[in-house]
Amino acid sequence: MLVVLKENSFEVGREAARIVASSLRANPKSVLGLATGSTPLGMYEELIALHKSTGLDFSHATSFNLDEYLGLAPDNPQSFHYFMHEHLFRHVNVKPENIHIPDGTITGNYDTYCCSYEQAIRDAGGIDLQILGIGRNGHIGFNEPTSSLGSRTRLKVLTKETIDDNRKSFAPGEKVPECAITMGIGTILEAKRVLLLASGSSKATSIAQAIEGPVTASVTASALQHHPDVTFIVDQQAGAQLRHHDYYARVLRLTAELTPDRL
Ligand code: F6R
Repeated sequence: MLVVLKENSFEVGREAARIVASSLRANPKSVLGLATGSTPLGMYEELIALHKSTGLDFSHATSFNLDEYLGLAPDNPQSFHYFMHEHLFRHVNVKPENIHIPDGTITGNYDTYCCSYEQAIRDAGGIDLQILGIGRNGHIGFNEPTSSLGSRTRLKVLTKETIDDNRKSFAPGEKVPECAITMGIGTILEAKRVLLLASGSSKATSIAQAIEGPVTASVTASALQHHPDVTFIVDQQAGAQLRHHDYYARVLRLTAELTPDRL
């Protein structure tokens, strides 16, 4: 695992965008796994800026989003469909037919639908670069504590803590979805490379548990310890409870010297 400590959330977004952009430049047909939420906003802003200033090309790229709220139509401003179009897709030249986001409007036959989402990922050749945020409870995607570490895309009931965290994007009194369709931990672990971004003090405990704690379904991000190519990009506040700062800095310095392609 690489742990990259950055000064603030702006630097986290910039570093993540640099990695996504270099993946796209090296392989214009990259298959990107994308996340929503407040954490990747800076990364999306930077990618849009790179598209506009340097012509960063998304026209051959394919994307798969991690999750979508159950019950929200794509035109609902709280949906992840809406989020992605607002914060990335409408500003870059990605082809609409190459965009995949779980359908929150399905009713029944969830397993069949979720299997088809997994099949679409396989048909695209698998995810080259998966972007993740992390919940306060250590979730990735909406794989809440006690999710199976082998789980695949499925319908998931959200915890009360996650529903409360999500409430901030909904109007007062508006019903916050209790369920979501989410890629599973097993799905995420199959991505060729994983980037997990975190900023702010509310993520400090889950980041320390994910990186330095035991692998446990109680903190599903800890499953990333089994992934052969994962990079955590965290700001000072989110990294505040990590114990091995000096080691992470030395690993980065020597990786840059010896195997710069890993960065
Ligand atoms: C979003 C997702 C979630 C978020 C996580 C952090 O697609 O899968 O796991 O990444 O809840 O959300 P923020 O970034 O809003 O703190």
